[in-house]
Amino acid sequence: MSSPGWAGDKRAALRRRRCWTTVSLVCAAVLVTTARAEDERAASRGNLQAKLSYCKDCHGPSAQGYFGYFPIPRLAGQQTEYLENQLQAFIEHRRTNNVMFNVAHSLSPSLISALAANFRDLNPPPLGGAPRQNVAAGKRIFEDGVPEANVAACAACHGPNATGVGEIPRLAGQLYPYLVKELINWGKERGQNPTKPDTSAIMSPVAHSLTRTQVEAVAAYLSYLR
Ligand code: HEC
Ligand code: HEC
Repeated sequence: MSSPGWAGDKRAALRRRRCWTTVSLVCAAVLVTTARAEDERAASRGNLQAKLSYCKDCHGPSAQGYFGYFPIPRLAGQQTEYLENQLQAFIEHRRTNNVMFNVAHSLSPSLISALAANFRDLNPPPLGGAPRQNVAAGKRIFEDGVPEANVAACAACHGPNATGVGEIPRLAGQLYPYLVKELINWGKERGQNPTKPDTSAIMSPVAHSLTRTQVEAVAAYLSYLR
């Protein structure tokens, strides 16, 4: 004989069981999704680490730069906006360099941001190595510009300590031969895509107005700055 009470209990128990089954299914689904997200995060962490060590093969173990056959610039402490803009510049042929085109064109936007943030936080000492006798003259150019040639003070844009801001790069501790090459070759290497005018135009008059001696002096000063 089944009392209504008993039947009620049984129905309630059944409902509870169905309910728990649903809960566990939801739980299992949540667990699977979480595990998958974890996997993806781990994979992208691995991907970031792999790319970072690839960059450092050329740019040096702390991204301090490398005196190669072509000077390889320091990336450590660089402004993230500048780094992102330059990687995009290689991709869009605004900036011509075959090595960096090949490196940059396969990077996704999120990987570019992650790489840039990583380099921003590095702070190794400068490699130095530039001729010392020009440093004082270079400091004057950096702080006061070259008034007779209408060259503005570099510090006005690059900041008093040459650490840059936004799309204006840090120059402190940058490799001497790289700085010289960029300033001498500006018009041949930067702003090369006429359909995409860019920030390189801001530097053009400065680079064109400096003599080789002035370029070497300011580059020597900057290469020792911390
Ligand atoms: C095979 C060597 C090599 C590898 C690998 C490499 N680079 Fe470069 N990179 C260079 C060279 C050489 C230059 C200088 C290009 C020039 O003279 O215009 C450069 C320049 C750059 C610049 C411009 C810096 C500036 O101050 O304007 C950025 C940004 C950059 N690399 C980022 C990266 C990142 C990020 C990676 C890794 C994903 C990477 N590079 C991997 C050789 C390399
Ligand atoms: C009016 C602002 C302004 C002034 C003044 C200025 N710069 Fe720049 N500079 C820039 C900008 C903007 C960039 C980034 C250009 C680009 O995106 O290609 C730059 C880029 C550079 C670079 C390239 C760095 C790299 O990593 O490749 C060098 C070198 C440089 N400036 C040196 C100087 C020196 C030396 C002076 C002073 C004699 C100077 N600049 C004055 C705005 C300025």
